[in-house]
Amino acid sequence: MPTKICVFDAYGTLFDVNAAARGAAREPGMGAISNSWESVARQWRTKQLQYSWIRTILGEHEDFWKITRDSLDWALENNGLGGNSKLRDRLLALYRELAAFPEVPNVLSRLRESGKTTAILSNGSPEMLNGAVRAAGIDPLLDAVLSVESVGAFKPHKSVYDMVGRKFDCGPEDVLFASSNGWDAASASHYGFRAVWVNRLGEPVDALPRKPNRIVSDLEEIPLIAGCS
Ligand code: LAC
Repeated sequence: MPTKICVFDAYGTLFDVNAAARGAAREPGMGAISNSWESVARQWRTKQLQYSWIRTILGEHEDFWKITRDSLDWALENNGLGGNSKLRDRLLALYRELAAFPEVPNVLSRLRESGKTTAILSNGSPEMLNGAVRAAGIDPLLDAVLSVESVGAFKPHKSVYDMVGRKFDCGPEDVLFASSNGWDAASASHYGFRAVWVNRLGEPVDALPRKPNRIVSDLEEIPLIAGCS
């Protein structure tokens, strides 16, 4: 079934969240993180998501940039790197310009050439998302960049997924939603989107009330799934 509106999660889906720690580890003067960058990246991401869920459940919203800083501080301290402000500043600067996965520009171009509407729906703050989109050079390939800051809650709160229908005047069934986060794809499927899990790491399917509608290993298949010729 062709879908006109193609919506993407940002972090982990379009942008490589490990690129900041990996990139810092390769830079001169950043030897402190060279052996532990994978652990820092994994714990940074895990805490960032935990903080987003807990703050939403508690009704204590702060924007994703604050949560990204708080979770980095936890990960650095847990890896014996707390107090290294030069490293912290560098990781945060790199996070603002995360690399896009290699297939992203081509996939968005193919969707647009087939007349699809393309958008990001992300936890990221508008400043974070605009910075990453600009750094990746994909701003001309997107019709909208939707940040949860408009509703003051994080995914998978229903009010976040509601933003798409409001923006494009459509029902959930009109939307193809792609996310590399299994829980986000499962929640989007529960909401009623046609949800594709971009399972980049080959992980098991989450035991949640709804399964994603499709599972792919990267974004290459999205134009075909959306019905592009
Ligand atoms: C986002 C997070 C969930 O971009 O990756 O919304």
